[in-house]
Amino acid sequence: MATVNQELMQLVARTRAFLKSHIAWVAVVIFGVGLLVCIIVPVVLTGLSKTHGDTPKFTATCVLVDYTMWRPIQTRCKVSVPAEIKASIDVSQTLFSLNSGDVLPVNCSYQVTDGVITCQGPHVTCQIRGTLSIAFFDNAGNAVLDKILFNLGSLIPPLVTSVVQVFEPVGKNFTSNFNFTCAVTSSCDTYTMALYVDGNLHLTEEDALLCINTSMTEGGYNKSCVFKVDEDVIRQQRSMDISCALLQNNFLAKQEKFLLPMCSKRSSDCNCSAKTTSCDEICTKVGTCLKHDDISRYQNITTEDVVLKPICPVLCTPKWCRDKFNDDKTETLIPAILGAMCTNS
Ligand SMILES: *[C@@H]1O[C@H](CO)[C@@H](O)[C@H](O)[C@H]1NC(C)=O
Ligand SMILES: *[C@@H]1O[C@H](CO)[C@@H](O)[C@H](O)[C@H]1NC(C)=O
Ligand SMILES: *[C@@H]1O[C@H](CO)[C@@H](O)[C@H](O)[C@H]1NC(C)=O
Ligand SMILES: *[C@@H]1O[C@H](CO)[C@@H](O)[C@H](O)[C@H]1NC(C)=O
Ligand SMILES: *[C@@H]1O[C@H](CO)[C@@H](O)[C@H](O)[C@H]1NC(C)=O
Ligand SMILES: *[C@@H]1O[C@H](CO)[C@@H](O)[C@H](O)[C@H]1NC(C)=O
Ligand SMILES: *[C@@H]1O[C@H](CO)[C@@H](O)[C@H](O)[C@H]1NC(C)=O
Repeated sequence: MATVNQELMQLVARTRAFLKSHIAWVAVVIFGVGLLVCIIVPVVLTGLSKTHGDTPKFTATCVLVDYTMWRPIQTRCKVSVPAEIKASIDVSQTLFSLNSGDVLPVNCSYQVTDGVITCQGPHVTCQIRGTLSIAFFDNAGNAVLDKILFNLGSLIPPLVTSVVQVFEPVGKNFTSNFNFTCAVTSSCDTYTMALYVDGNLHLTEEDALLCINTSMTEGGYNKSCVFKVDEDVIRQQRSMDISCALLQNNFLAKQEKFLLPMCSKRSSDCNCSAKTTSCDEICTKVGTCLKHDDISRYQNITTEDVVLKPICPVLCTPKWCRDKFNDDKTETLIPAILGAMCTNS
């Protein structure tokens, strides 16, 4: 510390000597030198006396910690209090206001040792958006930190996608159809949903089997759309580049991929070395390996031969799945699904 001060004093002395010897042009750039002195002086004088005229101020760096639908809005400010200031912040007087108007209820706490003030406001709803300003006051009621502003932007709601495969009889054959469901909850803005395949618009809301939109009392709405996708699309898109998109004024606001279940998600009593030569063996293996999976993801197993002889009963057919050991490819054929189910085990 002492060395640093000494060096600084030498620097000031050298600067002074320099200024004396260059007095002629110094007069011309006096404003600049004034700035230079101002920069040097506080460093040298720290802790010695008051600065000239400038009243010391509180400063703060604030961040928005949480701004999520239905959760309390939270802020955190790191406050620095100049040593000269005797007044202290009274956080119970903190003012949270929205768009310079509405005053929001707020609870703040001040950890003086860390200089951190955390505040918790009301639960976020669609109405809590715009500009949030915070003001802190000292115990005499004077504003010490004012107009700390946050821009509460639009909350893009989470998108949830799911896939259900069904087998439908077409004449004597069975064909596979997929319900691709896309849902948003607590959306504040109006979006339209669409299904994209390989980066291109494939189905719009008008093409959907169903779109349900339910409004919430506190503003915003839930919405889900079901799109029917036929098996050819998936066969051509073995890597499943199929996603749900949220569009706002024709701009893509958010996108989420649809994913099939993983082939390797099998039950613990699955016997991977069991043979799969006959229909009965295939039915047994599919039945034991997949029986603990979510019922909606796979066909119910039956040995009843419904349609096709001598082909195995269609209800022994496992639903299509992702082969994560093969670049996440979609497996569509029974031997490939059975293989992927037991790979790397
Ligand atoms: C502030 O704290 C009080 C008492 O714990 C509580 O009733 C109130 O809901 C809180 N308000 C906010 C905005 O968190
Ligand atoms: C049933 O499948 C066979 C073999 O794939 C095909 O030749 C036939 O056209 C299909 N029939 C119908 C009605 O789709
Ligand atoms: C697919 O979606 C349609 C429309 O909502 C529905 O009627 C049908 O039952 C669904 N199929 C499955 C297997 O979930
Ligand atoms: C959903 O319903 C709300 C309220 O009826 C409406 O304002 C909004 O435009 C609808 N959104 C869509 C995408 O249909
Ligand atoms: C919206 O979705 C959420 C989450 O699924 C649910 O809790 C809420 O009840 C739904 N609201 C309406 C109005 O459907
Ligand atoms: C698994 O299948 C093989 C081949 O069919 C058989 O030898 C073995 O006993 C089976 N293991 C169990 C635990 O069932
Ligand atoms: C599958 O089988 C279970 C139990 O037997 C039954 O509860 C369920 O409704 C069946 N699901 C379908 C889609 O047939």
